[in-house]
Amino acid sequence: MRLRIAAGNWKMNTSLQEGIELAKAIQAFVSEFPLDKHKRIVLGVPFTHIVSIVNLVDYKKISVAAQNCARWEKGAYTGEISAEMIRSSGAHYIIIGHSERRQYFNETNEELKTKVELCLKNSLRPIFCVGEKLDEREQNKHFEVVQKQLTESLFHLDVEHFSHVLIAYEPVWAIGTGKNASPEQAQEMHMFIRKLIAEKYGASAANDTSILYGGSCNAQNAASLFAQPDIDGGLVGGASLKANDFIEIIKAL
Ligand code: 13P
Repeated sequence: MRLRIAAGNWKMNTSLQEGIELAKAIQAFVSEFPLDKHKRIVLGVPFTHIVSIVNLVDYKKISVAAQNCARWEKGAYTGEISAEMIRSSGAHYIIIGHSERRQYFNETNEELKTKVELCLKNSLRPIFCVGEKLDEREQNKHFEVVQKQLTESLFHLDVEHFSHVLIAYEPVWAIGTGKNASPEQAQEMHMFIRKLIAEKYGASAANDTSILYGGSCNAQNAASLFAQPDIDGGLVGGASLKANDFIEIIKAL
């Protein structure tokens, strides 16, 4: 089933206590808010917060996501956190391949392919991030870049495994800049992504895949972005750290 999702990516923000307060505020709103069964809220929290937040939210409406996992299964990798550990902490989703990780931690499409496999093996649903940089868009290479990211990290999966994957289109030039892609620009790319999925896995798989938009998504622009036919919700950074803003985004789903 194609889910509509309001996902927060808290990145490296909030102390545990602040994170708990934020999750409680969202939970308090959601407990009064009727959420259709094809809609879901996902909180992408720091590793240290997962257990506490899993324990305070209503799992029927809110799922918890990690923001990364190790590229190895287990072993002598001091400081790393495995997909298995994340799943055993109660998270159900995981953000994989965020552009900040590609940029600061040199994550490659090949490495992300391994991470996706580890997530699926451990029953974690990857929210796989794709998106072009500003110069790539200016050179009209954005479709090519996104196609390569999808092909090299995801399209080796069989259709059953692929059905657990969600995609987030996050143009790098829109992240944290206050300059979101216009609804038309985002729709154009989401439609392109869905077409690629249809070519690879068939129309029904493409129709069932949730494709989220990320990049300066906020309380003001969420409704117009989410109204596009191929935009199934958002992956939200800055605005997910303020309960009232994130609640407006949930209402726009
Ligand atoms: P902002 O919403 O702060 O632009 O961040 C988007 C993002 O990176 C979500 O993963």
